[in-house]
Amino acid sequence: MRAIVLHGEELRLEERPDPVPGGNEVVVAAPYAALNPADLAQRAGRYPAPPGAPQDIPGLEVSGRVVARGAAVLGWQVGDRVFGLVGGGGLADRVAVHERHVVAVPERLDDLEAAAVPEAFLTAFDAMVSQAGLGPGDVLLVNGANGGVGTAAVQIGRYVGARVIAISRSDEKLELARRLGADEVVQAGGTDTVARARAACGGDGADVTIQCVGSAEVAEQAIELATFGGRVVLIGSSPEPFRARVVEICWRELTLFGSRGFTVDDIRAVVDLYLAGDIVTEHLTARTRPLAEANEALEDLREGRVLRTVLMP
Ligand SMILES: NC(=O)c1ccc[n+]([C@@H]2O[C@H](COP(=O)([O-])OP(=O)(O)OC[C@H]3O[C@@H](n4cnc5c(N)ncnc54)[C@H](OP(=O)(O)O)[C@@H]3O)[C@@H](O)[C@H]2O)c1
Repeated sequence: MRAIVLHGEELRLEERPDPVPGGNEVVVAAPYAALNPADLAQRAGRYPAPPGAPQDIPGLEVSGRVVARGAAVLGWQVGDRVFGLVGGGGLADRVAVHERHVVAVPERLDDLEAAAVPEAFLTAFDAMVSQAGLGPGDVLLVNGANGGVGTAAVQIGRYVGARVIAISRSDEKLELARRLGADEVVQAGGTDTVARARAACGGDGADVTIQCVGSAEVAEQAIELATFGGRVVLIGSSPEPFRARVVEICWRELTLFGSRGFTVDDIRAVVDLYLAGDIVTEHLTARTRPLAEANEALEDLREGRVLRTVLMP
């Protein structure tokens, strides 16, 4: 197979032996491989792959057709079209994945979308709905609404019937959040950011906040902006410690969640959402490059020139 392999901070395109599926695994032939901010963090040594996943091949998403299956696989046949997430190893044209970590790709989702949708949408869904119990009528605050996860969060929020408040720094890019269905947008910046965000929430603050910014300061703001009984899900990868007043968490009965994983039910729910609604994904698929340009693509991501890049092996 062809894979993008980490050598220190450099990514190299290399030939590797095809993965052999374990008992419950399928091997997927992937026509596309999506790059995410997590790949940047992994390259910098801040996001190691979990045990059992390939440590030197980044990539969190998998999509394509099953080309081999382990002896104990019940759910899939060779030729089935599947997609989902992996702990690592996604930047390759052959990816081994547990059979229960993928679901069938709906017909309407083309190969490019199937490659680029899982990470953003599953992260947002697991954080807001599975963890924080987002429901109809909740005020949802999306911090970092212009990003991959944030744009998914805005759309999922609208779909479940929440009132969606989108915050990001670039007003120009917040136009996308408006188009995706945010009820209010707030441009972050200046000492009055919290006051403006609170006003946009209706004065009391947010029932659920998804914190999609890798910044301790923004995490502190998220806690400040939670209403009584509010739930705050922290997904933004920041190594810095953040400060919160314990008394506020007690008296306002706040709940803080961390989220990194997903379940197969999350994948099914995201597929249902896609089939039921007018979900927009062009901003995740707009930029493609050959697999050999992975280093340049990662630099584009680091410099904020693109939201995502999908590589073509
Ligand atoms: N825990 C998990 O499972 C998980 C999974 C995926 C991602 N993550 C992490 O979650 C974070 C978001 O991921 P992503 O893929 O959506 O990243 P992304 O595409 O880079 O988006 C982050 C967005 O945050 C906005 N932003 C930056 N600073 C801000 C500030 N001070 N206030 C408000 N908005 C700000 C940026 O837009 P502007 O420049 O317009 O402000 C940017 O578009 C990253 O830290 C990523 O590592 C965690």
